[in-house]
Amino acid sequence: MARPKQVRIIDVGPRDGLQNESARIPTDVKIRYVDMLTDAGFGWIEVTSFVHPKAVPQMADADEVYRSIRKKRGVRYTTLVPNPRGLERAIAADVRDIALFVAATESFSRANINRSIAGSLDDAQAVIEAARPAGVRVRAYISVAFGCPYEGVVSAEQVRAVADRLFELGAEEVGLGDTIGVATPGDVNRVMEPVLAKLAPAEKWGLHFHDTRGTALANVMASLELGISSYDSSAGGLGGCPFAGPSAAGNLATEDLIYLLDGLEIEHGVSLDKVLGASRFIVDAVGHPLTSKVYQAGGRLTTVPAPR
Ligand code: HMG
Ligand code: MG
Repeated sequence: MARPKQVRIIDVGPRDGLQNESARIPTDVKIRYVDMLTDAGFGWIEVTSFVHPKAVPQMADADEVYRSIRKKRGVRYTTLVPNPRGLERAIAADVRDIALFVAATESFSRANINRSIAGSLDDAQAVIEAARPAGVRVRAYISVAFGCPYEGVVSAEQVRAVADRLFELGAEEVGLGDTIGVATPGDVNRVMEPVLAKLAPAEKWGLHFHDTRGTALANVMASLELGISSYDSSAGGLGGCPFAGPSAAGNLATEDLIYLLDGLEIEHGVSLDKVLGASRFIVDAVGHPLTSKVYQAGGRLTTVPAPR
């Protein structure tokens, strides 16, 4: 399979990034952050999530954030939705794009959303059936698609079974989440090759890597070789799932992904400098250093006068 010439980057920082922060981030800061990402040129941004405010207090202002961000024509502003109640809230806020999420393992499904996988797929069905007539487009995640903090290695068959049902229900795209950042390129091939051969072509899949063990960019390389052209990342490398234990670290950093793609001459349409600007903006609010290597290095190569 040829490497794609162009990829889509979905910045999930405002959702996956901020959901996991312990500092209270003011709503107006979140809004400004999303607006800065819009200015950076993303075609997709995951803005917030309509989950239970007690489960994830950082996302309690989902409604206000979504309503107040500046919406640029053509950009898809997605929000995470766990169940029909979440969809009701999203529709009331005029959301046009949602992402639902189903786990690949029973233990993670219970810990994350208090449902079995079957119960969560029933919710997914109800969400998709109600979203369609409301004109809301649906993307789906499979979380812990490579490894689970409670059950260990996840088999390709577990992922295939959930993905099969999600496509059958009408999900536009299925994103495989390495929630706890354990995948290596070998795992990417192990899980992706069977589903690409049996279930759906490369353009129906997205990948969502967390960089806990430093393998996220290597995993992107492996996925590019499989023809996958949709990647989630977060500015600065923020991110993590509050229900995945301490092992869930940040998402693949958008800056690092852009740097790699530029080096491979793969188009993505996003300004690295503006993403760096968004990261510099959010760093004070989160109150800890950002993990993006390109951010830490100060951006692209710049030269200084050689010492005499
Ligand atoms: P539950 O307690 O089982 O909910 O929570 P329930 O259906 O039994 O309802 C209990 C009450 O909650 C009811 O209210 C509902 O109306 C209300 P009452 O009648 O008692 O007054 N309720 C809600 N309120 C607001 N918004 C809602 C909602 N749903 C029910 N959506 C629930 C189930 C799913 C709500 C809860 O467990 C939850 O919100 N979990 C959040 C999980 C989460 O956000 N996890 C992190 C995101 S996933 C992730 O990070 C992975 C990903 O990045 C991919 C990757 O990395 O792999 C996507
Ligand atoms: Mg995630």
